[in-house]
Amino acid sequence: MEEEQIYVLADDTRAVVFETRGVTKVYHMGEVDVHALRGVDLQLYQGEFVVLLGPSGSGKSTLLNILGGLDTPSSGEVHYRDHDLSAASERELTEYRRHHVGFIFQFYNLIPSLTARENVALVTEISQDPMTPEDALAMVDLADRMDHFPSQLSGGQQQRVAVARAVAKRPEVLLCDEPTGALDITTGIKVLEALERVNRELGTTTAVITHNAAIAAMANRVIHIADGRIARIDTNADRKQPGELEW
Ligand SMILES: Nc1ncnc2c1ncn2[C@@H]1O[C@H](COP(=O)(O)OP(=O)(O)O)[C@@H](O)[C@H]1O
Ligand SMILES: [Mg+2]
Repeated sequence: MEEEQIYVLADDTRAVVFETRGVTKVYHMGEVDVHALRGVDLQLYQGEFVVLLGPSGSGKSTLLNILGGLDTPSSGEVHYRDHDLSAASERELTEYRRHHVGFIFQFYNLIPSLTARENVALVTEISQDPMTPEDALAMVDLADRMDHFPSQLSGGQQQRVAVARAVAKRPEVLLCDEPTGALDITTGIKVLEALERVNRELGTTTAVITHNAAIAAMANRVIHIADGRIARIDTNADRKQPGELEW
């Protein structure tokens, strides 16, 4: 892997993993322009756990997709370490996603005919320095469910398989779009515990979109998005464990 350049702020010692400057996104829907992002300046730091909070339609998924190289801005700049994502080709974005980013979405997208272990192995077989599927599944507390098929697992367990699949390649960044959106409290907390453990043990920079304000208490920083802009950023002096969240 190439040497990574570390950006350090003058007034801060934390390495900057993502930096966006003036990012806008306009979707052209026939006659109508939808302004999904209206100028986002944001820095995310190495190893931090951020929650992106905001109402439906405020631009959270658009921003996350741009950070993850799934979408590109209409204007502005997006940097991941020394990669300029805003200037990258499709092929470079594919490489970026493959090597650096793990994604988790609201729906788990597991392959029904494969066991938990086999679903994770699909990724580890094509990665450079992966964990074993067994280690990845143990990390999300599914060591005893490895040979189950998705239909034999609860929604929360399926989502934890998806977390194992996303982190098995040891990505530097984990981007989660409403990972607990389809889950009840108890199973949602188990998924958040898995994300917290990955963040703590692997140092994976983690961004979690939610519209559940309770989840904000487990973040280092809470980025409030409203109407395509960052409305406010809060820093939590004390982070709660997922089990302590008041849903
Ligand atoms: N592919 C798309 N085509 C057209 N409009 C889109 C598309 N994706 C998102 N939008 C619009 O952009 C705005 C922001 O959407 P989104 O980023 O999904 O918000 P959030 O994730 O906060 O709910 C919304 O008005 C949405 O309808
Ligand atoms: Mg969304």
